[in-house]
Amino acid sequence: MSQSENLHDKRIVVLMGGLSAERDISLRTGSAVLRALQERGLNAAGLDVGRDLPARLIELGTEVAFIALHGRFGEDGTVQGLLELLRIPYTGSGVLASSVAMNKLVAKQVLLHHGVATPGFAVYRRGDDLDAFVAGQTAYPLVSKPAREGSTIGVSIVRDPQQLRAGLEEALRFDDLVLVEEFIAGAEVTVGVLGDQPLPVIQVVPKGGFYDFQSKYTPGQTEYLLPAPLPADVTSRLQAAAVTACRALGCRGAARVDFIVRDAELFCLEVNTIPGMTETSLLPKAAGAVGISFGDLVLRILADAGLDK
Ligand SMILES: Nc1ncnc2c1ncn2[C@@H]1O[C@H](COP(=O)(O)OP(=O)(O)O)[C@@H](O)[C@H]1O
Ligand SMILES: [Mg+2]
Repeated sequence: MSQSENLHDKRIVVLMGGLSAERDISLRTGSAVLRALQERGLNAAGLDVGRDLPARLIELGTEVAFIALHGRFGEDGTVQGLLELLRIPYTGSGVLASSVAMNKLVAKQVLLHHGVATPGFAVYRRGDDLDAFVAGQTAYPLVSKPAREGSTIGVSIVRDPQQLRAGLEEALRFDDLVLVEEFIAGAEVTVGVLGDQPLPVIQVVPKGGFYDFQSKYTPGQTEYLLPAPLPADVTSRLQAAAVTACRALGCRGAARVDFIVRDAELFCLEVNTIPGMTETSLLPKAAGAVGISFGDLVLRILADAGLDK
């Protein structure tokens, strides 16, 4: 959608909730976005996404969809595909970028091709010989994670073969495809990208040491350092790598790229194509640091809505 088209004439529907393991977080993102749109006097409604989505979109007279879904059936290209079919412009990345970013294995392969470093890894597929896989892993600690989840769901840090088995089983509850990565001990940071502009780098310091589901969403469980106290050259390399990662995947609108920095070496963990947008989430914090209010951020994301071309 071009910036000049008047959003005040459009029926905007915020898609939230949905069917993924991150449903509750999505409801929080969606409500915050809906509130911001309504406060600006826009014609916006919320829609809790279920299998009746196509009918509901039509019923609500949707002219633009603001996708506030996280995880499967929302961040992974499926809802984007449906909106393409219905010819309803939507916010954020298109079908391909969404599905590539959602699959951490494919995303890593694309990132590596573009010179963005990621932790070393092995892949376990359901049905592979478990004993042989575990025997093949000799350097601990490792991190086992489902290829297609978010919010640290199914992620385990494992220190020996027995823990690796348990970690694989946990990840297999969510996905047939599991990544086992080298554990990188370093500073955990995230870089928001708005269009092609990187935002200030935020360092996250979880009180429990591991940025798990609870540390992400319980106020007070994580300290946020903004701007991250890193050398200026590391900060600019992070921002450049975040933009490269988004371009490599073909992202649109807003995205957030997670990294671990170990001794000035950058390791990209993932690209989030629908970053959390609760009032306390990282992307709005980073935007706020450069004078972009939550409401302005929502409007900028909306202004970038479109269909794949
Ligand atoms: N290779 C790794 N080394 C160290 N910590 C990791 C690694 N991979 C994941 N983590 C930890 O687990 C968290 C979640 O992993 P991430 O790959 O970002 O998946 P999610 O999509 O669930 O956010 C990270 O924020 C980080 O704290
Ligand atoms: Mg992450």
